[in-house]
Amino acid sequence: MSDRDREPQPPSDDAGAGGPEDPSRRRALAIGVSVLGGGLVVAPLVPALGFVGFPLRGAVTSAGGDFIAAGSRAQFGPTIPIKVDLYADRRDAWAVERQVKIGSCWVLERDGELKAFSTVCPHLGCAIEYDEEASAFRCPCHRSEFDLDGTPVEGPSPRGLDTLEVKQDAGLVAIRYQRFRQGVGEKVEA
Ligand code: FES
Repeated sequence: MSDRDREPQPPSDDAGAGGPEDPSRRRALAIGVSVLGGGLVVAPLVPALGFVGFPLRGAVTSAGGDFIAAGSRAQFGPTIPIKVDLYADRRDAWAVERQVKIGSCWVLERDGELKAFSTVCPHLGCAIEYDEEASAFRCPCHRSEFDLDGTPVEGPSPRGLDTLEVKQDAGLVAIRYQRFRQGVGEKVEA
């Protein structure tokens, strides 16, 4: 059979506009494959990237603002203050330190109410001691003295002892430890 005798054939679907030979279709296919491939590569990295960015996103925290267990209510009386060391976990970005001492306070009952005084002197931050003979709190650094209510009676301290928040529940006491600015007349959280 000669070429002239052959029936004219309809254009094939595989050729011409829209077929694999069509440059625009090949470009579109190539872009689709690239996007899919890129997504497969990046997807497993998303949690890892979030993990790497954690310390930048998360607030750096410490246990300073939380209530901390301070013992049973029964141990605190009206006459002799008890010194309580407060321990809590401290987190600083990546590092978590377990049960670190974050501060201390003197706890006693005054007029039927439990009081907690920070041991940090409001003058320049030395450690306040209790003088049992004088029934007074004293600072050894510059000789400030405070009565059992924390009121200053002598020395350069510009204000009374700093009280801390106390919470009681089922016979247990918890104290919220805070630090305050030193050398100023007002009690302002540091
Ligand atoms: S630091 Fe306490 S009186 Fe100065």
